[in-house]
Amino acid sequence: MQDRTLIILKPDAMKRKLVGEIISRIEKKNLTIVRMDMRTLDKKTLDQHYDEHKGKPFYPSLVEFMSSGPVVVMEVQGRDAQSVMRNLMGKTDPITADPGTIRGDLGIDFTENLIHGSDSKLTADREIGIFFGA
Ligand code: RTP
Ligand code: MG
Repeated sequence: MQDRTLIILKPDAMKRKLVGEIISRIEKKNLTIVRMDMRTLDKKTLDQHYDEHKGKPFYPSLVEFMSSGPVVVMEVQGRDAQSVMRNLMGKTDPITADPGTIRGDLGIDFTENLIHGSDSKLTADREIGIFFGA
């Protein structure tokens, strides 16, 4: 099976109408979107998804932001999909993300940084399970 990763286009990507722009970058890289759904995330799902960040100072504002409006969740497949997507996304803080990356080109806020991508194969399996059930 191809490598796979879980991508979330965060509420700011929806509000700023950047979904098409971001999907276009994923497609141009020749990755394949195999599942995609628009939904509003509840606190229970976010608690599961962001389990590693529970208790950190930014956690409450992260959950508030991530549940503030609809997001697009996707399973993306391709060779080394997690690291390829993380490279396309750029560093977490858009201020330090390189030009040419999604965050580097399109964002400026640390929390509202447009996109989530799984950070390893193990995380990808766990997160795809949370959002798509397998
Ligand atoms: P993500 O999980 O969303 O793909 O981002 P990441 O791996 O690059 O970053 P991570 O450390 O997992 O942090 C998760 C998300 O929390 C928000 N954050 N805000 N204000 C802050 O100090 C802070 N730190 C993290 C960001 O939205 C980040 O993407
Ligand atoms: Mg992360």
